[in-house]
Amino acid sequence: MEVVICKSKGEASKLAAEMITKAVKANPKTVLGLATGSTPVGMYDEMAKAVKAGEVSYKQVRSWNLDEYYGLPPTHDQSYRYFMNKNLFEKIDIDLANTHVLDGLAADPEKECADYEKQIKDAGGIDIQVLGIGSDGHIAFNEPGTSLTSRTSVVYLTPSTIKDNARLFFGGDESKVPTRALSMGVGTICEAKKIILLAFGENKQDALLGMVEGGITQFCTASILQMHPDVWVFCDEAAAAKLKLKEYYAWRSATKLGK
Ligand code: GLP
Repeated sequence: MEVVICKSKGEASKLAAEMITKAVKANPKTVLGLATGSTPVGMYDEMAKAVKAGEVSYKQVRSWNLDEYYGLPPTHDQSYRYFMNKNLFEKIDIDLANTHVLDGLAADPEKECADYEKQIKDAGGIDIQVLGIGSDGHIAFNEPGTSLTSRTSVVYLTPSTIKDNARLFFGGDESKVPTRALSMGVGTICEAKKIILLAFGENKQDALLGMVEGGITQFCTASILQMHPDVWVFCDEAAAAKLKLKEYYAWRSATKLGK
């Protein structure tokens, strides 16, 4: 796991976007796994800038998103489909038909999840998976106590995640946050060939500590990423503050990136 500690969120977002731009240039048919939340927005803006500048095209890229709230229609302004359209898809030249988000209104949600797994498999798997991290160490919506080999399924949100997600979304009203979601599993995420995880701010310190230097445990589902051969963590100094080996990670990753 490479931990890239940046001076600012802006710098980290730029570096992460550069990594994706480079990969899509090398393989225009890249399969992306995408994430929502406030964290990746800056990176999505940087990706859009590169498209505008004519540096890269997403015309042949296909994407699968991590998760969606159960019970929200794609048109709901707090749905993850709506979020992706607004924050990325409408800003780049991707074909919307090539973008996939789990259907929060699926009549048979378990079938929806099984079909989603099959779609990803048929696409040849995810080349680059983008991740944020919950303050409790969750990835996608895989909360503490989730099996580290879980597959895409209906999941239940913890009160702490509901609180976190109400803070920036749902007009701050916890009662409006759905209590369930459809989410890629931890095992599904780990099959991605490369993983880019972003984490910013003090609120993510404990999650990052658990993920990078804690033991592997289902109580911090991100900790399983220690077993993955190609993970890049782009974070700011605030999120990295509790890491014991932060100077070492910063030097090693800067050297590898040629910075
Ligand atoms: C939600 C999403 C996660 C995301 C997390 C953090 O729980 N399901 O994919 O990483 O929020 O959100 P934020 O980036 O707003 O801190």
